[in-house]
Amino acid sequence: MAVVALSMAACNNQPTEMKNQVTTNPAIENIMTRVSVREFTGEKISDAQLDTLLRAAMAAPSAINKQPWAFIVVTDEAKIAALGEALPYSRCSNKPAVAIIPCGDLSKAIEGDMANFWINDVSAATENLLLAAHSMGLGAVWTGLHPDMNRAKLVQEMLGLPEHIIPLCVVPVGHPAEQPEVKNKYKEENIHYNKW
Ligand SMILES: Cc1cc2nc3c(=O)[nH]c(=O)nc-3n(C[C@H](O)[C@H](O)[C@H](O)COP(=O)(O)O)c2cc1C
Repeated sequence: MAVVALSMAACNNQPTEMKNQVTTNPAIENIMTRVSVREFTGEKISDAQLDTLLRAAMAAPSAINKQPWAFIVVTDEAKIAALGEALPYSRCSNKPAVAIIPCGDLSKAIEGDMANFWINDVSAATENLLLAAHSMGLGAVWTGLHPDMNRAKLVQEMLGLPEHIIPLCVVPVGHPAEQPEVKNKYKEENIHYNKW
């Protein structure tokens, strides 16, 4: 397989120390160059792009393969603006094409003590969504709701979610109007072999 330098055109906003690395794998390169994008152009995304984002999200692993999730896709401009006003940290006032709200569906979650595994499952789906957006040249950012119950309740009310649907986060997605620098987060001190 051809070696792809991480310093290729799409990755020009990387720190210099990362530009020298090489990968043979475009999926790894996509992971290493993803960055939170919070400013958008206002341009729409296509139905095919939206479909790919949602398929990628639902391809995530989940405990006992319960897939305890639901995705609220907000395309209505007035509703996106209202989310932006109610939740300034959601970046929905910054002209995203769509706001996707990955939720836990408690009616599909594991019963009993393990119910909270839905948070892991929906988090995995959210990361898939971010990576898929980046791979298509779109921008996105994970903006937190759960476990802040005030924020989650607000979204539940605004979007008429039933009680068993818990919004995890708001992910505004759109065409990037900024190119933030990729952060190099690799720290050898975070790795422990065989024991602490
Ligand atoms: C659980 C969680 C909650 C976050 N909440 C917000 C948020 O409310 N607003 C925001 O702009 N970014 C939010 N972020 C994005 C982080 O700030 C961002 O991922 C972090 O600074 C690392 O930057 P990077 O994504 O560009 O690598 C959140 C990320 C996570 C995982």
